[in-house]
Amino acid sequence: MSEPYASLREKAAALDAQDELAKQRELFALDEAVYLDGNSLGALPRHVAGRLADVITREWGELRIRSWDESGWWTAPERIGERIAPLVGAAPGQVVVGDSTSVNVFKAVVAAARLAGEDRDEILVDATTFPTDGYIAESAARMTGKRLVPLAPGDVPAAVGPRTAAALVNHVDFRTGRLHDLPGITAAVQAAGALAVWDLCHSAGALPVGLDAHGVDLAVGCTYKYLNGGPGAPAYLYVAERHQAGFDSPLPGWTGHRDPFAMTPGYTAADGATRGRVGTPDILSMLALESALDVWDGVSMDAVRAKSLALTDFFLECVRAYAPEGRVTSLTPEAHEERGSQVALRCAEAPQVMETLIARGVVGDLRRPDVLRFGFTPLYVGFADTERAARVLAEVLTDVPGQATAV
Ligand SMILES: Cc1ncc(COP(=O)(O)O)c(C=O)c1O
Repeated sequence: MSEPYASLREKAAALDAQDELAKQRELFALDEAVYLDGNSLGALPRHVAGRLADVITREWGELRIRSWDESGWWTAPERIGERIAPLVGAAPGQVVVGDSTSVNVFKAVVAAARLAGEDRDEILVDATTFPTDGYIAESAARMTGKRLVPLAPGDVPAAVGPRTAAALVNHVDFRTGRLHDLPGITAAVQAAGALAVWDLCHSAGALPVGLDAHGVDLAVGCTYKYLNGGPGAPAYLYVAERHQAGFDSPLPGWTGHRDPFAMTPGYTAADGATRGRVGTPDILSMLALESALDVWDGVSMDAVRAKSLALTDFFLECVRAYAPEGRVTSLTPEAHEERGSQVALRCAEAPQVMETLIARGVVGDLRRPDVLRFGFTPLYVGFADTERAARVLAEVLTDVPGQATAV
């Protein structure tokens, strides 16, 4: 075997041998493909199928309506919120599960605008955001009579001021994998008297978030990426305890009512994060998520973060060693404090390269027009997988005619 392949393969084997999370991989249904798309759709934890079969055949099929009570369906949004809370650094009573991230962005931004008051007339939004947040923030601003100000997350501390009601920022950029400064931006927003609303889709389950420790006001996130909840699994909403009494949801559905079965015409919000609920919970998806969260039992988020950084470092090292000169450029920051758990490579032939890579058993994804994304999920991606992914990428780049990327 030629250098540098042999030495990097040896290094991968040594890193895998020391990996305290390596045993978690057995918990997932995976095949020979190197699955680097867990930042889009997490892999299936094997035991979920059996649990869901029980939910369908026994809880729904036999107990039917009794399951709302006897199988704990009604309280699932709060119960599963308590399972997610420690993964994002939240004490109990602040996380409720339900709806999509998009819907929770709407609830959180409107509620933040209302909490901030009418004197504050602008909402800052991450200009590089995943589009749904920007679209919804624009509508939320219009509805609450405020002006939307798109700007780079790094510019939020300088821009926030007495007119700012809230800032909506992504913890990790979905395109580049850049990790934004949650503690610093939150502190700056709050020093100006505004509320910090964070989108955790690309950080929860990949790194410690520390919502309570950093005093975040409101947060949302999805559960189908690093939390492996399944396609379309419900999202979650974090409402810091100090804001709960004033949290005025723009979607005051009956399940967020203090006494839903009183069926009264007037709305009185429930206490706590429950007031973030809207309608009937999507039980099949919710309970698949609840079961999927078992893979976190006994796992430390610090260990996940350490492995995630080691994986992305190693991938970048292998890409540098193997890839033909000039064909790919990393968009992902080198500095650990600025890196999430994915590597994004700019490549002029990205569509053809990703299609060929997938056909050869390395599954990442494409962000048009020219970004190859590779997500590193520490619970089931290893170092040998990582070396193989870089090696196959180099082969594909050699086989797909191309040009050097403009940096
Ligand atoms: C950062 C971010 N926010 C929001 C969303 C959208 O979430 P949903 O489609 O569940 O509403 C995504 C989806 O990938 C995302 O990556």
